[in-house]
Amino acid sequence: MDYQNLQLTSSDGILILTISREKALNALNGQTMQELQHFFGTHLPAQAGVKGVVVTGAGAKAFVAGADIKEFLALDEDKGAEMGQRGHDVFFLIERAGVPVVAAVNGFALGGGCELAMACHMRIAGENARFGQPEVNLGIIPGYGGTQRLLQYIGKSKAIELMMTADMINAEEAYRLGLVNYVVPAGEEVNKAVELIQKIAKKGPIAISKIIETVNAFYQYNEDGFAREVKAFGETTGTEDFKEGAAAFIEKRKANFKGE
Ligand code: CAA
Repeated sequence: MDYQNLQLTSSDGILILTISREKALNALNGQTMQELQHFFGTHLPAQAGVKGVVVTGAGAKAFVAGADIKEFLALDEDKGAEMGQRGHDVFFLIERAGVPVVAAVNGFALGGGCELAMACHMRIAGENARFGQPEVNLGIIPGYGGTQRLLQYIGKSKAIELMMTADMINAEEAYRLGLVNYVVPAGEEVNKAVELIQKIAKKGPIAISKIIETVNAFYQYNEDGFAREVKAFGETTGTEDFKEGAAAFIEKRKANFKGE
């Protein structure tokens, strides 16, 4: 698929995915959602040796300012539910990716933009980042997982307040509440995200994918996260990486993991 609204670059096994609709503050229109679905559902799983993905927005003003409000006028109840379902499908692909996905939040992350950042495994905020779920201003609710993921990160009290008031919070407040992992000077978000992925890439890749799987299991109503952990722990002990990791410890050398 040729991407119109996504720019993809690669450096040393790390993919940098930039949402590129700068004039619309990188709002997620239908085309962009299709492209994200293709990237995370088809392109990424077919790539070997990817260490991780950084998701960011074009320009210095916005990460993503939400779903594209200009496409909203065509919605009715059925089409709205369809749109919500597609958003959930795409963002679950991100959350369930087998490699770390880090959001580099370079400005406004509102509505679907905040939800996109929350679907990623970790978030780096530039000092100018602003987070919020302002959907009630439009008479709707968050539709791409925000009602669930915001409270997973910051707890029910503050999440319900932010969703009901549509208030925006700055990077420091987002850090204080536990929504973001690091705050960095504006313009340094992608570098910090790359640094984090490089650090993780030194670990066993199968173990990293199992961490993602088991942590996600906690939030799935039909999963027993503890049972999933037992299974995944067993699976990791059956890998060549585990033999290598344990041998490296005993031989007092760095492990050379192969993802096998
Ligand atoms: N959809 C479509 N276009 C958008 C947009 C959006 N979500 N956000 C900004 N834009 C466009 C503006 O329409 C404007 O385009 P024009 O120049 O063609 O008029 C351009 O981006 C620049 O925006 P502003 O002039 O508004 O810039 P500003 O600096 O004055 O304000 C802002 C910035 C506070 C982010 C403001 O643009 C804003 O409030 N945007 C909407 C945020 C929002 O409500 N997001 C939630 C959408 S609903 C949703 O996401 C539902 C869901 O859960 C899936």
